[in-house]
Amino acid sequence: MSDDRYLTFALGKGRLAKKTLQLFEQIGITCEEMKDPDTRKLIFVNEELKLRFFLAKGPDVPTYVEYGAADIGVVGKDTILEEGRNIYEVLDLGFGKCRMCICGPESARELLQHHEQIRVATKYPHIAKDYFYNKKHQTVEIIKLNGSIELAPIVGLSEVICDIVETGTTLKENGLTVLEEVCPLSARVVVNQVSMKMDNERITRLISDLKTVIK
Ligand code: PRP
Repeated sequence: MSDDRYLTFALGKGRLAKKTLQLFEQIGITCEEMKDPDTRKLIFVNEELKLRFFLAKGPDVPTYVEYGAADIGVVGKDTILEEGRNIYEVLDLGFGKCRMCICGPESARELLQHHEQIRVATKYPHIAKDYFYNKKHQTVEIIKLNGSIELAPIVGLSEVICDIVETGTTLKENGLTVLEEVCPLSARVVVNQVSMKMDNERITRLISDLKTVIK
């Protein structure tokens, strides 16, 4: 396809966005407009490079990419696994490293080992279901929550949680511990399946440029 078409990037708002933009700057992809802290604009354009950028809620990034509203997305592996969209995951950016874990009080370790029918609170019901049903062959009740997941075992909503652990501070400060590890996580680049074919040259170049600057 011709280089006239704009390549559109969907970036997950929050922790990953700043680092992503820093990485893009290192390979000469800049978007000055996006740096204005007072702007209420939702989409930013680099006319010279024929690029567009927008920030979206993390879980919506794979959706934009699957439907081709964005050609390329940057989002956490946790979101990719949870959303299960038809997209290509092409690169591990190596930042935003953390782990998806099953956590709880030390006393819950026994319940996991004996395959008891326990309750699992999580923001990631698909990941939790896949782990317990397909990997561990353990029947559990999954309870979907939207945040502060560590509260669940403390107040008796569930025996364990399936959640992200980064530094481990939240667990420690709440008397909880990692009981099992589900998988490692980090920021990934995802690509729309049609864009990958139609704009293969530009996208492949972008990926190889990114590879040269990531550690
Ligand atoms: C995440 C995660 C843990 C915490 C882990 O929550 O759900 O609660 O960070 O980080 P730590 O191991 O460094 O303590 P987040 O801050 O995204 O908010 P949430 O509770 O709304 O999910």
